[in-house]
Amino acid sequence: MTDTTSNQMWGGRFAAGPDAIMEAINASIGFDKRLAAQDIAGSRAHAAMLAATGIISDRDAEAMREGLLTVLSEIEEGRFTFSPALEDIHMNVEARLKDLVGEAAGRLHTARSRNDQVATDFRLWVRDQLDAVEAGLETLVRACLVQAEAGADWVMPGFTHLQVAQPVTWGHHMMAYVEMFGRDLGRVRDARVRMNECPLGAAALAGTSFPIDREMTARELGFDRPCANSLDAVSDRDFALEFLGLASICAMHLSRLAEELVIWSSAQFRFVALSDRFSTGSSIMPQKRNPDAAELIRAKIGRIFGANVALMTVMKGLPLAYSKDMQEDKEQVFDAADNLLLALAAMEGMVRDMEANREALAAAAGHGFSTATDLADWLVRALDMPFREAHHVTGSLVALAERKGCDLPDLTLAEMQAVHADIRADVFDVLGVENSVASRRSYGGTAPDQVRSQIARWKEKLS
Ligand code: ARG
Repeated sequence: MTDTTSNQMWGGRFAAGPDAIMEAINASIGFDKRLAAQDIAGSRAHAAMLAATGIISDRDAEAMREGLLTVLSEIEEGRFTFSPALEDIHMNVEARLKDLVGEAAGRLHTARSRNDQVATDFRLWVRDQLDAVEAGLETLVRACLVQAEAGADWVMPGFTHLQVAQPVTWGHHMMAYVEMFGRDLGRVRDARVRMNECPLGAAALAGTSFPIDREMTARELGFDRPCANSLDAVSDRDFALEFLGLASICAMHLSRLAEELVIWSSAQFRFVALSDRFSTGSSIMPQKRNPDAAELIRAKIGRIFGANVALMTVMKGLPLAYSKDMQEDKEQVFDAADNLLLALAAMEGMVRDMEANREALAAAAGHGFSTATDLADWLVRALDMPFREAHHVTGSLVALAERKGCDLPDLTLAEMQAVHADIRADVFDVLGVENSVASRRSYGGTAPDQVRSQIARWKEKLS
């Protein structure tokens, strides 16, 4: 849209309107309309403060505050026409307010700039996302806890290098994710505390000569206090970067669980069955049950991490205070937030619905010489052998079993004594996977008692 007249908001010194390309690169209304509710909340708080401090009349403030509510309902009901010529959400709202209440609307921008306005709107928006992510994470942690509790003593193989390492319990494995998502929750809460300061009143960059009350607007908008430095207030986007940082780490955790679900639900593993509600079929292969949700969650780290890199790159090297570069801060954060919330909800659904296959887990737990470490530990304890030597003897026994094509408990006592004469029959007690996990009672270990006490601690923490 080419407009030959100058911009009605800032065009006083301009004879002509912007070129169509200029308007296309400059306008942000296509995406920042998502900040409409926050923009209007900020303007209503600002109008109330301007009246409370005597900067504008109560009558004007009332007209603005009422008019802003009308604008909000027009936007929410889809009756609002957004105009790219008005660049962004701030000027679209103000222009419509002028249609509705006339001259009073022109006083709303007193002691304010779009720089502190957008910084305030965006903080409010990111704060809402933090609250939504916190709720999503809590629900996911609860779903993991339910799985952990049901299978606190179900044995399964634990892996290193994706090779069978030592038996663990299903509950222990689920609780590892509770720890990860629990740290994500901590990061969300930390970030919220740090970001909860209000930029409004910093104006363009230097503050204002009007006798504004920044405590009042901060309070009205649920902030703990106003930002203390006006230059920083308008040019800081740490809150968005912290959001993307914690979102990246959380998405990375989600992608690890997603990867395990992909592996575990395969015909080769059969550790879990995903529900119909969270599986998809193939259009050509009738037997297929695909873990698409898990795969998509695994992939979403890409765009979320990309958003983090993109905004870091936008902010890097920017001189103080506001530069238009900072308009590029929003789209990627919107996208990252939408996709993180979707991934959290999908993961919660998959975890809630999935059924662990206790028999398949137990069968796999006994394969791959998973109790070899228990055997070596027995040699140390029962025969007072140095661990290095025990490791070597156990290695010979594993090689023997491998040659015979059996697991360690299937070797006879005579076969074992041929490798080391002092081995006694009670060695078989430690070769079973149940005994193996039960013995790992050290704090944070896989013994069912330990797992149950961690589950209890988390339930207490969440209540
Ligand atoms: N649409 C702008 C943004 O998102 C609002 C601030 C504009 N400020 C300015 N000085 N041009 O960053």
